[in-house]
Amino acid sequence: MKKLFKLILILSFFSLNFAQTFAAEKVEYLKTDWSFKGLFGKFDRAALQRGYQVYTEVCASCHSMKYLSYRNLSEEGGPEFSLAAAKAIAASFEVTDGPNADGEMFTRPGKLSDKFVMPYDNVKAAQAANGGAYPPDMSVLVKARGGGVDYIYSLLQGYEDPPSGVTLDDGVYYNKYMYGNKIRMAAPLSDGIVDYGDGTNASVEQMSKDVTTFLMWAAEPHLEARHQMGFKAIVYLIILTILVYFSMKKIWSRVESEV
Ligand code: HEC
Repeated sequence: MKKLFKLILILSFFSLNFAQTFAAEKVEYLKTDWSFKGLFGKFDRAALQRGYQVYTEVCASCHSMKYLSYRNLSEEGGPEFSLAAAKAIAASFEVTDGPNADGEMFTRPGKLSDKFVMPYDNVKAAQAANGGAYPPDMSVLVKARGGGVDYIYSLLQGYEDPPSGVTLDDGVYYNKYMYGNKIRMAAPLSDGIVDYGDGTNASVEQMSKDVTTFLMWAAEPHLEARHQMGFKAIVYLIILTILVYFSMKKIWSRVESEV
């Protein structure tokens, strides 16, 4: 019995130690106040529009967003560009269509119903252009990474010089937040790389926040509707609870008075 007790003591000591070292190695993500978090959370329209600008001017040359159509840019709950603006955005892209009567493919200006144009024809072409690494499709990337928006926000700001002793191959960069700290994407953002139409200062931090907000919307376009639904459900449950409480009192009132 005593032996067993000792064993448990030793084991728990080691597991505690293990948990501690494990916790110490976990990096803390950078924090920012996301407008879409919480029960009443909504997307900041201006941030979504700026985020689209960052995506299209910076990230879109490597990362596709294959589930988005230009139409989505003007839909309720998203960046809510005017229909005319969304049409103009679509028309600014060249889309391959066809085949025509001669059996040939042709290009035409984009329409609202077109999906976002892809930067590469296929995965192999994307890898060939990026030294073997594949820039993942960003449609649902926020959901595909453990830390979600905080991770992507941090990753974009996490480029650093490697600590001494760490050597990097060509085309590999050191990032504090990337799994294993090595990433085959050069820091995509630098201060002032885009020119915001609304006068917002395009700092790396600001652009990281805007583009991450945009990616969050892309991954969860119905977030606002879902929050509204959740709120309605809670109000409904509160009213129901009150009703049930009073009807219970009424039903039992006779029984209690008879006792
Ligand atoms: C020059 C091409 C290029 C551009 C521009 C670019 N990326 Fe990347 N990105 C890559 C490649 C390649 C990878 C894969 C890296 C790897 O696997 O090591 C990647 C990976 C990522 C990842 C995933 C990291 C992970 O956890 O696997 C995120 C997030 C990301 N990019 C965000 C962005 C954002 C946001 C922008 C625009 C601001 C952007 N990228 C611009 C090439 C690019």
